[in-house]
Amino acid sequence: MLPLFKKREWLEEPWKDYKIIGFGSTKGGAGRTTMAIEIGSTIAFVKETKVVIVDWDVVNPRLTQRAFRSLPLRGQTLVKIISSKDFSRALKNISLHSVSLSPTAKIDVLPALSYEDIDKGIVDEYFSFMYEKPEEYVRRSRELIRVLKEDYEYILNDYPAITWVALGHLSLSINHVRATSGNLVMVVDPSPWSAELLNTDLIYPKLKGMKVGALVVNMVKPTVDAINQAKTIFEPICRKLGADNFVVIPFDAKLYEAGIGALNFVSVAVSPHKGASRSARYLYVLADRFLHEEKRGRCFYIGPG
Ligand SMILES: Nc1ncnc2c1ncn2[C@@H]1O[C@H](COP(=O)(O)OP(=O)(O)OP(=O)(O)O)[C@@H](O)[C@H]1O
Ligand SMILES: [Mg+2]
Repeated sequence: MLPLFKKREWLEEPWKDYKIIGFGSTKGGAGRTTMAIEIGSTIAFVKETKVVIVDWDVVNPRLTQRAFRSLPLRGQTLVKIISSKDFSRALKNISLHSVSLSPTAKIDVLPALSYEDIDKGIVDEYFSFMYEKPEEYVRRSRELIRVLKEDYEYILNDYPAITWVALGHLSLSINHVRATSGNLVMVVDPSPWSAELLNTDLIYPKLKGMKVGALVVNMVKPTVDAINQAKTIFEPICRKLGADNFVVIPFDAKLYEAGIGALNFVSVAVSPHKGASRSARYLYVLADRFLHEEKRGRCFYIGPG
């Protein structure tokens, strides 16, 4: 290998705090944002405590768009804080908007970006900073979490996907996750390729020492056979990851409608539609187990059957 391509490998120390929950996946569209919204709103509702969701997905800021019904025009955003010329001052001035995700749950959201950030080139600055100074980027990210932790009991991180395209920066993606979470929820689609990718030495050793709160298999096809197949394929992977919970979420009309903005509220698990959505009920159970830091047994099964 040419020395030019030799990447420095390092492993960040993960947070020893299961109340800092990160939602990651190896591909886009797996359902991270949906899980973050349902779990975050449930925690805010059940515990009546302060919860913040940070939208780290600057490329595809669906959480920001869902929470604010659009990208904000301006104001405090993740890209502004992280790429700020005066980072310590930016950290001192954080004050976030509270957003109603349902009639019963309010949480604070740190939006990924605003229209102003695109217009003024702040998004470009953010990406240059991330790629040119990866370690500094990770350090600032950890600092941001530390400051948020002074105000919030629970922090939820909605991350971008660790995709093949980002493989050149796999260390960056994973170290970023390690530096900003203490409880990782891995969301996957049920394809064997997702299983294979999770199983390789590309990702698994880099999760060493991280608490994995759940492996969530989010399914498009809810046939009984497909569910059983997913259980067979992913259960061993769940054990290998040492995850506390193994969750199977079938396709669900209400979750889908919330995702495309067809409902009046964003979260289903704490809305009047809760009863109509079995998947939201499963996610409620998972949130409840997180609240009690329930970890009896490994890969506690939540899902159909
Ligand atoms: N179990 C499900 N049942 C029905 N629809 C779902 C389910 N999970 C996710 N969806 C829908 O699929 C779409 C993608 O989900 P989501 O945005 O949560 O994924 P993501 O992993 O965050 O994707 P992205 O890579 O776009 O950030 C959304 O419209 C969402 O509402
Ligand atoms: Mg998303």
